[in-house]
Amino acid sequence: MPNKFLSHNERRAPKVRELFTTLAPRYDLANDIQSFGLHRRWKQRVAALATAGARPGWRVLDLCCGTGDLTFAARRGGATLVVGLDFTEAMLRVAARRRAPNDGGARFVLGDALRLPFADASFDAVTVGYGLRNVADIEASLREMLRVLRPGGRMVILDFGKPDNRLGRACYLGWLRATMPLMGWLFHRDPDTYRYIIASLETFPAQRGMESMMRRAGMVAVRVHNLLLGTMAINYGERPA
Ligand SMILES: C[S@@+](CC[C@H](N)C(=O)[O-])C[C@H]1O[C@@H](n2cnc3c(N)ncnc32)[C@H](O)[C@@H]1O
Repeated sequence: MPNKFLSHNERRAPKVRELFTTLAPRYDLANDIQSFGLHRRWKQRVAALATAGARPGWRVLDLCCGTGDLTFAARRGGATLVVGLDFTEAMLRVAARRRAPNDGGARFVLGDALRLPFADASFDAVTVGYGLRNVADIEASLREMLRVLRPGGRMVILDFGKPDNRLGRACYLGWLRATMPLMGWLFHRDPDTYRYIIASLETFPAQRGMESMMRRAGMVAVRVHNLLLGTMAINYGERPA
């Protein structure tokens, strides 16, 4: 059954924006319930990879930042400046409310992952949490991320994964199909809101496909960290020095 928030043409961005405008007020609570709080630990790991050995002046771009979980985690991890970018104003409003008072090191920008408003080589690391699955052109977005990374800079991507094991994958997709419509109904009286996760996952290349894309884009030190049996995954890579 087609999902009303997913389109594979030029309607993709406005539909995704409409979805996240609906989800924004309860997004954080829903994440805690849906992942039993585990998403906090996974995001901590992403931030640790993005900020390991951070020197004074370390700059991180948190793409598709939403309500800012990874932005704040990278700040706590020692980045001097973290810029969170997202194209849904309602998500950014929540992020701005959550920012510690007077923290000039966390900034939020309204913008599109496909046309980043930053100069070449302006960040030490780029993070993306549950974002690339939603963009209309993942390869174009990867090119933009690489453009704004300095040589030797890191890219750390967290998203839903697809377990390598067939049985594991079938069980996991079955669990998502059973529970996500219920989440959507409970939180927004609309099963399609969370059913979108399954629909968007169908065409998402997940950890193995992302790994190949990152290598094709010329990245080095590319690796995958599977989480919870590969149902979630972190893709890591570096722009050649
Ligand atoms: C599932 S949320 C993830 C939020 C946050 N990174 C997290 O891990 O909780 C996906 C976010 O991606 C944003 N997004 C999707 N496509 C985008 C694009 N092309 N440019 C900028 N933001 C985008 C949405 O507005 C939404 O806030």
